[in-house]
Amino acid sequence: MCGIVGYIGNKEAQDVLLKGLSRLEYRGYDSAGVAIVRGTKIEFDKKQGKLKTLISDLKDAPIKGTLGIGHTRWATHGIPNEVNAHPHLDCKKRLAVVHNGIIENYQELKKSLKREGHKFLSETDTEVIAHLIEKFYKGDLEAAVFKTLKLLKGTYAIAVVHKNEPDKLVGARADSPLIIGVGKGENFLASDAPAVLDYTKEVIFMDNHEVVTLTRDGVSIKDFHGRKVHKKPSKIKWDISQAEKAGYKHFMLKEIFEQGDILSKIIDERVANDRISFGELKISERAFKGFKNIAIVACGTAYHAGLTGKYMLEELVRIPSWIDTSSEFRYRDPMVDKDTLVIIVSQSGETADSLAALREARAKGATVLGICNVLGSTISREADGVIYTHAGPEIAVASTKAYTAQLAIFYLLTLYLAKLRKTISDKRYDYFMSEFKRVPGLVNDLLSEYKPEYNALEAYAEGFKRYYHQKHNKSTFLYLARNINYPNALEGALKLKEISYISAEGYPAGEMKHGPIALIDENPWVVCIAVQSKTYDKMLSNIQEIKARGGIVIGIATEGDREIMHQNINYLIEVPKVDELFSPLLVVIPLQLLAYYVAREFGYDIDQPRNLAKSVTVE
Ligand code: G6P
Repeated sequence: MCGIVGYIGNKEAQDVLLKGLSRLEYRGYDSAGVAIVRGTKIEFDKKQGKLKTLISDLKDAPIKGTLGIGHTRWATHGIPNEVNAHPHLDCKKRLAVVHNGIIENYQELKKSLKREGHKFLSETDTEVIAHLIEKFYKGDLEAAVFKTLKLLKGTYAIAVVHKNEPDKLVGARADSPLIIGVGKGENFLASDAPAVLDYTKEVIFMDNHEVVTLTRDGVSIKDFHGRKVHKKPSKIKWDISQAEKAGYKHFMLKEIFEQGDILSKIIDERVANDRISFGELKISERAFKGFKNIAIVACGTAYHAGLTGKYMLEELVRIPSWIDTSSEFRYRDPMVDKDTLVIIVSQSGETADSLAALREARAKGATVLGICNVLGSTISREADGVIYTHAGPEIAVASTKAYTAQLAIFYLLTLYLAKLRKTISDKRYDYFMSEFKRVPGLVNDLLSEYKPEYNALEAYAEGFKRYYHQKHNKSTFLYLARNINYPNALEGALKLKEISYISAEGYPAGEMKHGPIALIDENPWVVCIAVQSKTYDKMLSNIQEIKARGGIVIGIATEGDREIMHQNINYLIEVPKVDELFSPLLVVIPLQLLAYYVAREFGYDIDQPRNLAKSVTVE
């Protein structure tokens, strides 16, 4: 949802800004631009399309200067073109602004600014900010920004430079993320830490309703009332190499292959002598014992992790648990109160709807636990307690390792609560713990089958592409599963549609007869998750119903399953044997890889699929 960067120092700003933007491209990639204070002028360059277009343009005609701002866009207001790309400037091109978020009252502001004679070039909401600052500017950029903020309604993180103040970079935050990178003789602003990690690991997380003024040697933070705020930098522990491809063709593939090691790290970190502890968690055991129900709230892939969590919690903790998408939860007066534990799951910790859901839940007196990946993210700071997934930076827009890490945290939380609330026998707890500990090794074994240059899933993807063209591009995918693997059916379908643009639906297999069966002829490919489970026989019946209607079946089964061989399925994918409870962690691996190979067959941009963004910081 747009990435912004700002730099003030002694290096060439252009280089720092472009490097920063390349680390933020996951947030949006339909256009990009920079504005740099060069002598007594502001110079800028904006280009439609990916960042590389801007980079090659600036290579031919670099802009010199040591103070500047940059932006990579995910369009909300106005189509992605050069005029709508950020930065936006005032009428006299004296100041430039980049913005992430949405100014909700921009139309009325624009009308009155136009009446006052301001000339607008773009269709964006952001341009009003530039003209308002122009209107209020009387020689002090910070003061003009403060006056402007009073008029803005909506969400924003902004960075502003003015040609008359070559020693100042001003930023402000209301709901969209913004961090300050603290360097020596240089300072940075960015939507996310990876943008500055090449230069500094000292980062200050800005809170809502704060304004920062950066000089080369100083950082001054104030709240919206102008009161000074004192903050110490935190040290980012991970390295920028973790946000690089390490020889893989795509971030998505690299992140899929990291999953076994991440799971083992999560277990090592959280389990000692079979006892589970969450170091950073601020919610007491007493509180955990007292909750009467659990509400899980999330978006996208995190929602699917949460749905799996609901199955686990109800089965082992025997506590009524329900799940909602954040965008629904926030607007429907949800029934949560002081007896409810609300779990917000979010990789980025910045998703606007999930953040709003968190605030709604807290306002109603519920205790909120965040399950987040990004350290210091807004959700992790505003929740009553947080459990970090520690999966490292996830760069590919389609989430993979964050999902399995979220599942791992749900397993641990479930076992922890079951033990605490005495809903599990010691024997069963020990059994589940030993099964869980086997999973990272099994995931790595499974992944090792897909490492060679060419593997079965690539062949299936090739087969699908041929079939798709034979069927005049009419083939679709249907994913069916039952019980705790049902969320994986949703996730498999989501992965495929996100990166290969092929219509895909996930369904609980038992519901097939209430609708999806009408779709079955020789067109759709049906992925049937039929691992050993209490509903295995029912899945076999579903497979027969599909085969009887001419459907193409990809079966996902447990290694060594002989019965599945007699089902006349078209393609078979095997996963190692593990207790049903943990099977989602294994089943999802081939689902992720299948989506990856199909998208690769079709030649799509896997890490940056069209219209999507990794971090959705607008409603
Ligand atoms: C976007 C991303 C998804 C992600 C979802 C929720 O749609 O493309 O990959 O699952 O947002 O994001 P969150 O950061 O809250 O987990």
